[in-house]
Amino acid sequence: MKKTSQILINKDIQQLKESATLAINLQAKALSRSGKDVVHLGFGQSPFPVPQSIQEALGKNAHQKDYLPTRGLPDLCSKIAAYHNQHFKYSVKEDFVLVGPGSKELIFQLLYLLEGPVFVPAPSWVSYGPQVNIRGKKIVPVQTKREQSYKIQASELKEACEKLSNEPQKILVLNNPTNPTGAVYTQEEIESLAKVCREYHVIVISDEIYSLVNFSDRSYFGIQQFYPEGTIVTSGISKAQAAGGYRLGFCILPETMIDVRSALSAMISETYSAVSSPIQYAAAAAYESNKDLDDFISLTTKIHGAAGNYLHKRFVNMGLNCPAPEGAFYLFPDFQNFKEKLKAIGIEEDFELSKYLLEKYLIAVLPGSDFYFSSKVLGVRVASVDYNGEAVLEEALKADLIDDSFVAANCTNLVKGCDRLANFLAELK
Ligand SMILES: Cc1ncc(COP(=O)(O)O)c(C=O)c1O
Repeated sequence: MKKTSQILINKDIQQLKESATLAINLQAKALSRSGKDVVHLGFGQSPFPVPQSIQEALGKNAHQKDYLPTRGLPDLCSKIAAYHNQHFKYSVKEDFVLVGPGSKELIFQLLYLLEGPVFVPAPSWVSYGPQVNIRGKKIVPVQTKREQSYKIQASELKEACEKLSNEPQKILVLNNPTNPTGAVYTQEEIESLAKVCREYHVIVISDEIYSLVNFSDRSYFGIQQFYPEGTIVTSGISKAQAAGGYRLGFCILPETMIDVRSALSAMISETYSAVSSPIQYAAAAAYESNKDLDDFISLTTKIHGAAGNYLHKRFVNMGLNCPAPEGAFYLFPDFQNFKEKLKAIGIEEDFELSKYLLEKYLIAVLPGSDFYFSSKVLGVRVASVDYNGEAVLEEALKADLIDDSFVAANCTNLVKGCDRLANFLAELK
């Protein structure tokens, strides 16, 4: 074949690699296909079926073929606003809700159009950094502490703002509950962060994709409640409603951000135009008051809680450091206590550790450095959803208690993963 001349690619894009979570998923799946019994603690997809009411709404709306308004189906936007005002004591307006093909795309578009340095707590979700890189910028990770369950504290944010005091506007991406740690912020923490954001003119992109997956013993507090004028909420139906593949997310802007709304509407109209019509009608069913749906979210959240607590206890018993998860479906243990023993087998950084665990023990986890964490800390992200959600949900409907024994009996891959990890640690000399 005739050799083509070299193709020139935008340098900011050329440096990107495939998202770490998707890559580990492919590697683990390839191993499984080759007959290996992999325990997949790498990929954070809800294992549960999409609730019936949403599936039915999708079926009934298959004929919806017209392009919808750029900002989204008005009925969906109005339901999303009402749902958030009712559930989280927000004060948001339907005219400021914009719908996108997953909240990931909207976070990207917001990061693209907003000026200023972007703070993210370290560790934070893998995709914020590359999204900022596409815009030719770099994120500014703010190191958090294990003792604070890796939640960014107001004093840490203040210090970061002071260092960039010459910047007229800053951005903070705050994910609560948090991927990769399962942490949930307290009201006090959120209120203190809100004060710093107001003082230093920090626009918050509040990534609330897990807001309904809260199994702490506290109510959920979002920063919109305390800093409405500077907060952009992003969320969607991928996690609590288990419909990640529907690709439906949204952002909610404050009324003060009319210019941002115009800019974002323009970007949407020049890129994806509008989200698929049947999917938007289906999503409207996710934000209608419906006891079955509320029961589904409450029960599946209990299961996430039990799975997280089970893994947490096992990790701590093995000698790993790990804050207790309170939401989402992740944990962030570190192997600091085994540093010397790991060094003896040539493992000094987290990506060497996760490679070793996958190849030798068939356990897939993600290295903490993919989440902007120092690789020497030997932290890894564990997702607690490697089980058959449909079967487990059925058992949960019959069970009196969703506790450790429920997890041990029904989520056998989680048990297997812990057993393998315990063996690995026991075999270290
Ligand atoms: C922290 C976080 N934010 C955002 C997203 C994106 O969700 P979606 O694009 O499905 O709405 C995810 C999904 O994995 C996530 O974990």
